[in-house]
Amino acid sequence: MPVMQGAGTINQALRRLPTGPGYLVGLVPAAYWITLAFQNRLGADPVRTLEHELGIIALQFLVAALAVTPLRELTGVSFLRFRRMFGLLAFAYAILHFTTWLVLDRQLDWPRILADLVKRPYIILGMTALLMLIPLAATSFDRAVRWLGGARWRRLHRLAYPATALAAVHFIWLVKTWPLEPLLYAAVVALLLAWRARGAVFSRRRRIRGQRAA
Ligand code: HEM
Repeated sequence: MPVMQGAGTINQALRRLPTGPGYLVGLVPAAYWITLAFQNRLGADPVRTLEHELGIIALQFLVAALAVTPLRELTGVSFLRFRRMFGLLAFAYAILHFTTWLVLDRQLDWPRILADLVKRPYIILGMTALLMLIPLAATSFDRAVRWLGGARWRRLHRLAYPATALAAVHFIWLVKTWPLEPLLYAAVVALLLAWRARGAVFSRRRRIRGQRAA
């Protein structure tokens, strides 16, 4: 397994970083964009801009959470201690993105919201991704891991993969032309899913070999 030179030093430095303040740091962009929105400094369409920024950051944290294992396997650098934080921040940003749409964009106009759901399939994809993240956020605490048991908890948390895939498709679907940004996110998510699938195949083969040898 390839391990980057210096990975041990980086891991030592990472181990010294406390995770608690990381949540606050992760929420700084939200505070920044929301403040600009309330100060009317987000250009011609502040709601759209706020929606965009919060959605992008949600997707970035989802990608960061999914990238932890491949990065460790490829380089030896481990952000494992921060994975829960990445996931919870992704959830927080997705909720803020959704709330911006519901309250500021659609102004809680339920008939319009329902019409949007019917007319714009990408909203249903976003909604499904968000719904998938709810059980993950709700069981992200140590007590939930103990209560569910490691194997069931891990199985449940595999939902992060389809949720991220749906979020990436949600992004591609809403653009009418083909700008680079959503395609890049989709490519990175596809690579991470392929890595996960490869890992699953390898561990199944190892298990079968082990059973045969026993
Ligand atoms: C995990 C959940 C989600 C993620 C990661 C996510 C991410 C994104 C991203 C990256 C964009 C593109 C930003 C842009 O270029 O404008 C976007 C746009 C959008 N999302 Fe989401 N989204 C999620 C859930 C939702 C939900 C639940 C809704 C509403 C029910 C929603 C409604 C929208 C809308 C309306 C836009 C288009 C904004 C525009 O017109 O520019 N999203 N989302």
